[in-house]
Amino acid sequence: MLDTAFTPPAPTPRYVPPGARPSLQGYLRYFQIMRRNPLEIWTEGHYREFVWTPRVFGQPYVITHDPEAVRRFLVTNADNYGLTRLRRALFEPLIGDGLLIAEGDLWKRTRKALTPVFNHRNVRGFAPVMRDVAVREAEALAKRDGETVLMSREMLNLALNVLTACLFSGDEAIDTERFSRNLDRLLHVAGMPHPLDLMAAPAWLPRLGRGEATGIVVQLRSQVNALLAARRARPKETGTDDFLSLLMNAGADEGAPLSDKEIVDNLITFLAAGHETTARTLTWTFYLLSKSPEALDRAVAEVDGAGLDDEDPADWAARLPFVTAVIKESMRLYPAAAIFSRLALGPDRLGDVDIAPGTEIITSPWVLHRHDKLWARPWVFDPDRFMGAAADAIPRHAYMPFGAGPRICIGASFSMQEMAIVLAVFLTRLRFEHVGREEPQPIMRITVQPSTDVPMRIARRG
Ligand code: HEM
Repeated sequence: MLDTAFTPPAPTPRYVPPGARPSLQGYLRYFQIMRRNPLEIWTEGHYREFVWTPRVFGQPYVITHDPEAVRRFLVTNADNYGLTRLRRALFEPLIGDGLLIAEGDLWKRTRKALTPVFNHRNVRGFAPVMRDVAVREAEALAKRDGETVLMSREMLNLALNVLTACLFSGDEAIDTERFSRNLDRLLHVAGMPHPLDLMAAPAWLPRLGRGEATGIVVQLRSQVNALLAARRARPKETGTDDFLSLLMNAGADEGAPLSDKEIVDNLITFLAAGHETTARTLTWTFYLLSKSPEALDRAVAEVDGAGLDDEDPADWAARLPFVTAVIKESMRLYPAAAIFSRLALGPDRLGDVDIAPGTEIITSPWVLHRHDKLWARPWVFDPDRFMGAAADAIPRHAYMPFGAGPRICIGASFSMQEMAIVLAVFLTRLRFEHVGREEPQPIMRITVQPSTDVPMRIARRG
């Protein structure tokens, strides 16, 4: 354990008097909080007890943080649980039939075709690209020695540049600047669940703020379509194993290649699912390190002593156990995907609770990762939880930043590799000091984001 414990910012759990009954006022307050910051909804009781069975407007919910129940609905009996309306409402306009929201046979076929795309060999193959992008950005920052930079924005740019380099290997057919401007704007206008979606209102009801988002999606899709057409028209090259070429070949060996629409849907899915999540995790990780000088010194000493220059960047993470533990602890405290939900299709039993078809099951990694029954000193930053024997003692399914079961994040090893490489490159070249007047508060807007831009004064090292 670190000698100097640091408790990073988080909303204080709400106190709800025992026996409090739902009222109209209570519902209004619920929607107000959900609109402001869904992380504030959790009460003291949620961090102490495993199971809750509320009804909201007649809809039955089971909120569970019991690792055994989580294992059942996400892993061992996953077939009995479908996706919820909210997930479709949030992502469908952007990603069509992409893997993140595909269901049934379409999901099975797509997952089967995409699994080899993220195999060990392909993920390792992306490591040099990740390192090159990270070095370019770190060296650009090093030139700004002594200046204050907005870490949140820097990480969004960096993660987008890594992803577009891996998706299209810097193909000239794509105007990356326009592409990222569009994506940025889209995240801004579409980044919050609409209250009508939270109330499960029918999809045809007009949602304010969705018009602009639709226009941007049309532009993004047409850019990726044009890129695909240009690639198809070119003679086949060897050596460009970017996501685009991997997707163009996916499923071909089994005689079930993806259609052009499926390729585009999934390229956009990787951007939607992989950009913000990784960027936010990196931002929180740099913030946590900057507030914990002891952890920072250990991370820097590890990177300096690991002899990384002579190593394939795909092997860096294995040589950096403490840095990897810092990333894991950052995802424990600030899991980018802070809530999963599923809809029960048939009857089941989760722990002591009978589940009727149509019940919505909710687990929040935010709560799970801070639960009193599962973690010692849950609100404290302590990367050593993920080192050696302490890591082995973490209860199964108490920690799942990437989900669990058949729908576990397909990009998990890709992003773990990317984050270790980015940290190694940045810690070798730069020092950071958080200089914000306020500490960044975590706010959930699809991902868990900092409320500030996380300003940091940077200094070139050595
Ligand atoms: C720190 C980074 C990331 C985090 C925390 C994260 C988290 C998650 C989680 C929790 C899920 C499961 C959701 C559920 O079960 O309902 C998921 C699914 C998914 N993620 Fe990630 N993700 C990250 C990075 C990425 C990257 C880099 C990519 C792609 C390049 C990606 C692509 C996907 C896809 C396609 C799915 C849907 C899988 C399916 O439904 O079969 N993710 N992610």
